[in-house]
Amino acid sequence: MYTSRIAGMGKYVPENIVTNDDLAGIMDTNDAWIQERTGIKERHHITKEDDNTTATMGVKAAKIALERAKISKDDIDLIVFATLSPDYYFPGCGVQVQELLDIHTCPALDVRNQCSGFIYGLSVADQFIKTGMYKNVLVIGSENHSGGLDFSTRGRSVSVIFGDGAGAAVLTRSDKEGHGILSTHLHSEGKHALELSLRGPSTEYWVPQILEENPQEDIPYFPYMNGQFVFKNAVVRFSEVIMEGLKANNLEVADIDMLIPHQANLRISQFIQKKFQLPDDKVYNNIQKYGNTTAASIPIALTEAWEEGKIKEGDMVVLAAFGSGFTWGSAVIKW
Ligand SMILES: CC(C)(COP(=O)(O)OP(=O)(O)OC[C@H]1O[C@@H](n2cnc3c(N)ncnc32)[C@H](O)[C@@H]1OP(=O)(O)O)[C@@H](O)C(=O)NCCC(=O)NCCS
Repeated sequence: MYTSRIAGMGKYVPENIVTNDDLAGIMDTNDAWIQERTGIKERHHITKEDDNTTATMGVKAAKIALERAKISKDDIDLIVFATLSPDYYFPGCGVQVQELLDIHTCPALDVRNQCSGFIYGLSVADQFIKTGMYKNVLVIGSENHSGGLDFSTRGRSVSVIFGDGAGAAVLTRSDKEGHGILSTHLHSEGKHALELSLRGPSTEYWVPQILEENPQEDIPYFPYMNGQFVFKNAVVRFSEVIMEGLKANNLEVADIDMLIPHQANLRISQFIQKKFQLPDDKVYNNIQKYGNTTAASIPIALTEAWEEGKIKEGDMVVLAAFGSGFTWGSAVIKW
């Protein structure tokens, strides 16, 4: 049986930085509230003047990942694209990336698992490589949140949290046993689907119907989040799925060299760190700079940790995510 390893990673965030004070200028919020509840200081937002979309940011991250992997785009056998904010209702961003990278008729698969999207994508890529069906898979997580948030005071508990950006990884077949992606564990629990959701536009809330039936104060086409319920579920599921991954590989918490939690909220990461008694240098956080970039958050953090020399050959790296669905998952990687 084959194994897969990450051969290269890349990230891209739009240049435009939006600080907490900037948001306080357009809604009733303040820097102290945002920092205290989420740890976020600033995030990046696409502007009308730049050429960024979910697909094009994904392409920018992918180009860096391909270059670092030293793998030609023509050798990519599968594209997996994770996002909750695609450019179009359909088709998905995977085929847009394929066209923009000028890759011919390889399959392009779109993953709809929100904050867990990158780990789901990584798992799909890993399975295809393990079975021998594909050799090189490009996995992208990218989000354009700023285009769809409610920046009035009504939307403040959601809109201050999210940021735009993209991350990508090129996975390749490896013949080195005990290295690369050791395991992935995925879960979902659909009964909580609406606790963190964007219901329209959809076939349930199609645009003409939204305009006809919904008063301004109850618009279903802005994200809804039951924040405290999400927080409580996140801390439980993060812990469970990290332990599940460790156990499956006969590892213990002490074996973790770097934990990269999905950047949902700094308080959630700190809760997990405290629970597992991990020192600061074994947990990577960058939500302070980027906010929650959903499917892009793990690949952005992984890329940045690697760029900063915080992940070295032979390290045991654990990725964990939780988000809308609810969905959650972990990946254990021997670097
Ligand atoms: C969203 C979250 C930060 C809110 O924190 P919280 O402590 O639960 O805050 P609450 O929603 O109870 O709101 C507390 C007060 O702050 C106010 N508030 C909400 N957003 C605010 C903002 N941006 N600025 C200022 N005040 C705000 C509320 O209106 C409320 O006021 P009230 O007490 O007068 O009613 C927190 O619930 C959270 O992080 N949850 C998890 C979210 C997450 O991880 N999502 C992604 C999952 S992948």
